[in-house]
Amino acid sequence: MAIWGGRFSKDADEIAAVFGESLSFDRRLYAQDIKCSVAHVRMLATSKIIDDADASAIVDELGRIHTEIESGDFNFSSECEDIHMSIETCLIDRLGETGARIHAARSRNDQVATDIRLYLRDEIDEIVDLIRMLQERIVALADRHSSVIMPGLTHLQNAQPVLFAHHLLAYVEMLERDSDRLTDCRRRLNRSPLGSGALAGSTLPIDRDQTAAELGFDGPTRNSMDAVSDRDFVIELLADLAIFMMHMSRLSEDIVNWVSQRYTFISLDDAFCTGSSLMPQKKNPDIAELTRGKTGRVYGALIALLTVMKGLPLCYNRDLQEDKEPLFDSIDTAKSVLSIYKLMIDGIEVNADAMAIAASDPFMMATDFVDWLVVNGVPFRSAHEKVGQLVSHSSKLNTSLDRMTLSQIQEVVPEAEEECLLLFTAERSVAGKRSFGGTSPEEVAKQLAYWKKKLASGH
Ligand code: ARG
Repeated sequence: MAIWGGRFSKDADEIAAVFGESLSFDRRLYAQDIKCSVAHVRMLATSKIIDDADASAIVDELGRIHTEIESGDFNFSSECEDIHMSIETCLIDRLGETGARIHAARSRNDQVATDIRLYLRDEIDEIVDLIRMLQERIVALADRHSSVIMPGLTHLQNAQPVLFAHHLLAYVEMLERDSDRLTDCRRRLNRSPLGSGALAGSTLPIDRDQTAAELGFDGPTRNSMDAVSDRDFVIELLADLAIFMMHMSRLSEDIVNWVSQRYTFISLDDAFCTGSSLMPQKKNPDIAELTRGKTGRVYGALIALLTVMKGLPLCYNRDLQEDKEPLFDSIDTAKSVLSIYKLMIDGIEVNADAMAIAASDPFMMATDFVDWLVVNGVPFRSAHEKVGQLVSHSSKLNTSLDRMTLSQIQEVVPEAEEECLLLFTAERSVAGKRSFGGTSPEEVAKQLAYWKKKLASGH
């Protein structure tokens, strides 16, 4: 008979038990569940709800259970539906009456809410560390190729030349915001629901501050009904991970493009690519493609949780058990993407010549000519118009901007001078972008220095 068997005349139907169980996936919360129980039992003893001898017997047994689970020796009973019941049932089996005292002033509702928060704190710390390591690798790649020029695109069309390092550092910025969002989520979830009971709090003289402090929370949650109903922190984390995956997906898309025969800007280490079962020449960027694909799982998890929560009456409803699988899957996905990416980034080889050739299209310097005219007194709109006409004129003459003579240019842009003929190189264009945050080598060097210092200081 189940632990709540008192009011029941029979056990759950087997198919109902299988349908309702969560042990198969929530056993990963064992360490947090035990930590939470240890804090609870110590508090029960200081509050004189149980005596010290019982408390220390329970704490010792919890320690043994922890070791057994870690070593794979713990016998999870198939009769227990979740990790919380498994551990409590084991305590009762082994300690009898003493074990039966642990659940005073506690419900699985506040217990599971506390366990998940403890678990997420650790996972967020790990993900933030992994993000920092990936940022370091991207910065190192940018640093190794700090003078390589590539075409910058808008609408996937040639726009203006940029430094490859500048492009890479854009991702370091995105990752920094991801890391900030995760840290912020951690700060908000760091409150202890323990002691909220099933929903109403407890009749027993518990000390919620004590358990909150022992578990490293910033304090207890204020409202017991909110505490057991709330999964905002799960949704928030999933939203943060969804944004993070969106960034990784964009980086992946860049990589997929750059390795393709249309670009050949970079090549990946063989260890991170696969071949084709049919075409012997193929080397495919599967890791990047899979990362792009896995982004869908994390978006799905976010939508799943938002949908689970929508319309749930207060307080606990069993629907909430559906938070775990999408959450765990998203965390695993984010961590695996980060772990593999930091290795893959290290193995990137850069084809500076291919990038330079692609960046040498003189049309990409048209805006630089407009800027030259502005500096020489022409209003921006007319300068833009004139250079537009020049582009069209050059096509009619079947030549390119850099091959036109000064007099050909002056037919359309009479203000042009000898020095304008020097404007049409990518180096010159990039060197001129000295505005703060621009792509000139000096500005990009400042960004590199900023990130090296910041990342070395551990944030
Ligand atoms: N396995 C449950 C969950 O993950 C634990 C809480 C169960 N509470 C309850 N009243 N049935 O949500």
